[in-house]
Amino acid sequence: VALVTGSTRGIGRAIAETLLLCGAKVAICGRDLQRAGEVAVELGGGDNVRGFACDVSEPASINALVDDVEKAFGALDVLVNNAGVTRDNVFLRLKDEDWEAVLDANLRGAFVATRAASRGMLKRRWGRIINIASIVGLVGNKGQANYVASKAGLIGLTKSVAKELASRNILANVVAPGFIDTDMTAAMTAEARTTLSQGIPLARLGTPQDVAGIVAFLASEHAAYITGQVFVVDGGMVM
Ligand code: NAI
Repeated sequence: VALVTGSTRGIGRAIAETLLLCGAKVAICGRDLQRAGEVAVELGGGDNVRGFACDVSEPASINALVDDVEKAFGALDVLVNNAGVTRDNVFLRLKDEDWEAVLDANLRGAFVATRAASRGMLKRRWGRIINIASIVGLVGNKGQANYVASKAGLIGLTKSVAKELASRNILANVVAPGFIDTDMTAAMTAEARTTLSQGIPLARLGTPQDVAGIVAFLASEHAAYITGQVFVVDGGMVM
């Protein structure tokens, strides 16, 4: 049983689709229940996939989501904290609201979801927590101090959770994508994309599927001895 936050489009949707193909029961989650339900139907997994509504910037909404998913499918085995937002501006012009909106969704959301999901995992002594950060959480980025802080925080959260929960066979890892072709990066001009691709050894933006593959691996038995790690999926950009 897997819950993927922010799985109505982009990277989250590809992760949900891949986990479904690997045999998981998958909870699709987005702010809009109708859209989440439509995506569940589009993925075509029958009773093994269902849409749920959740706003990850609202702790009560996340707690209710985990309850609802566990009622529908049984205890969670895999949690993928994927939902994320940006509110970019140069550091000096960032407003308190820009800071809070990004930290609340990207970092506190992952904390609350992990705390809620890990209760059942602790009882059953099996669990996988996979957090989608970003390479900018490792190297910083101009104009994204709030987003970078949230992603660097997510890496710290993951390592601490990995240490606290390892004795109960709950593994926590980070996947840190580079530039992936989704709605989040769609605003870039063709020129900016070309320039960017030139700085990537594999000479292209990544696809959501490029990220989904390693998430499926980390959720599988093949990854049973891996915890507290950060896996960069960036076409070689920051090496
Ligand atoms: P996207 O904007 O295409 O999709 C984000 C998803 O999260 C959507 O389904 C959206 O509805 C959902 N979402 C946003 N706020 C939410 C909230 N408050 N509650 C519930 N759901 C919410 O983004 P994309 O590109 O698929 O990104 C997914 C994750 O990957 C994010 O955490 C992002 O920071 C990260 N990432 C993306 C990169 C990229 O180049 N696209 C690079 C590095 C990391």
